[in-house]
Amino acid sequence: MSMSSDATPNLQQAAKRNLWLHFTRMSAYADGDVPVIVRGSGAYVFDQRGKRYLDGLSGLFVTQAGHGREEIADAGARHGAELAYFPLWSYAHPKAIELAERLAELAPGDLNRVFFTTSGSEAVESAWKLAKQYYQTRGQPGRYKVISRDIAYHGTSMGALAITGLPAIKVPFEPLTPGGVRVPNTNFYRAPEFVRDDEAAFGRWAADEIERAILREGPESVAAVYLEPVQNSGGCFPPPPGYFTAVREICDRYGVLLVSDEVICAFGRLGYYYGSQRYGYTPDIITFAKGATSGYAPLGGMVVSDALMEPFSTGTATFLHGVTFAGHPVSAAVALANLEVFEKEDLLGNVRGNEEAFRATLGKLSDLPIVGDIRGAGYFYGIELVKDKATKQTFDDDESERLLRGFLSQALFDAGLVCRADDRGDPVIQLAPPLICGQEHFDEMEQVLRAVLTEAWTHI
Ligand SMILES: Cc1ncc(COP(=O)(O)O)c(C=O)c1O
Repeated sequence: MSMSSDATPNLQQAAKRNLWLHFTRMSAYADGDVPVIVRGSGAYVFDQRGKRYLDGLSGLFVTQAGHGREEIADAGARHGAELAYFPLWSYAHPKAIELAERLAELAPGDLNRVFFTTSGSEAVESAWKLAKQYYQTRGQPGRYKVISRDIAYHGTSMGALAITGLPAIKVPFEPLTPGGVRVPNTNFYRAPEFVRDDEAAFGRWAADEIERAILREGPESVAAVYLEPVQNSGGCFPPPPGYFTAVREICDRYGVLLVSDEVICAFGRLGYYYGSQRYGYTPDIITFAKGATSGYAPLGGMVVSDALMEPFSTGTATFLHGVTFAGHPVSAAVALANLEVFEKEDLLGNVRGNEEAFRATLGKLSDLPIVGDIRGAGYFYGIELVKDKATKQTFDDDESERLLRGFLSQALFDAGLVCRADDRGDPVIQLAPPLICGQEHFDEMEQVLRAVLTEAWTHI
């Protein structure tokens, strides 16, 4: 941790005394400052002492349009003065209607109906509840299970946690909501021996594993398969060629819903409004949050197909689910202003036009002995760190602890780069810069990473 500072000591004391940081070892701040970020501008944020950091993670995969965008913040303030709050329970309000229309327009296939939430976990959980109630209306009440992938993160509320594939963050909360089933992810770097040299064969095998899981569990008990277009946790696993086409066919064959969890991958992260559009598949449900507002207000939701809405559109049928702040008027106004920025500044075009340069710039790091794999798509990359490049040997738990928590996380931050050093799978550095970034930001990331990873090697 950095040395204690005399800058705004009250903030430091209050942070240590009263604030509880998420997924954070609070003891880590016993002898040093809690990092306090006070403002942002473009691709940069500033701490309480005025030090500047390149936001290489868009906060937490959120700030697509960058920081300090007055037109987005003002849209929220203006609308708050007009209609601060009204629920979407039995009533509608103009910004939720306009936003639903816009999101449906942009969505693939027959995904037309938007159910808002306030977060990604709520979106993921809403999709599960919808799948269960939908199948009840269809006379298949036995369908309650959900299939998702090893190491995938789908949120932390009890329902979403049962879908998340990270044992370490689930164990303290057992017994979990019943029905979560795991299948292999698409980490080609760590593919099983028999498909290691053939990405298409690996993709077929990984898709077939979903079919085998459906058959093992009994198709009549399976409601949905949850997949991210590019899996974040574990370090950006893109889908192998043919994977989503095969998964779509498998889901159709067994009457299982395909949920594309796009909490990270929607809103330009992969160069498209929805991540599924990049890979050419049409899911039954898309879950979204994060980048929908570029973080200027919280908002999540799901976009669902006409077919899923159909049983709820007549008679007394009601989807028995809701949350108070879902589709909040201020958040909806902010999301609309955010989408206007996307259009005006062609942020999707910026990602598509620059992604090869981003890949190539990060690719320069592969000359470092610690860099095993660089993978991802759009403005969404993971760099896997290894102990031995030739054998792909990874670090043991102690080494990983010393490397990531003992050195890398702090060293990267001290060097002025916000990114994520993560060991939820094998150790990775994750990068997801704002979509306004260009070559000068890629170069800055590469230079900081090169210096810090070179030093990290001497700590092993
Ligand atoms: C793919 C995915 N799904 C769901 C979530 C949960 O979102 P939230 O933190 O908004 O609840 C996340 C959060 O990172 C995510 O990455």
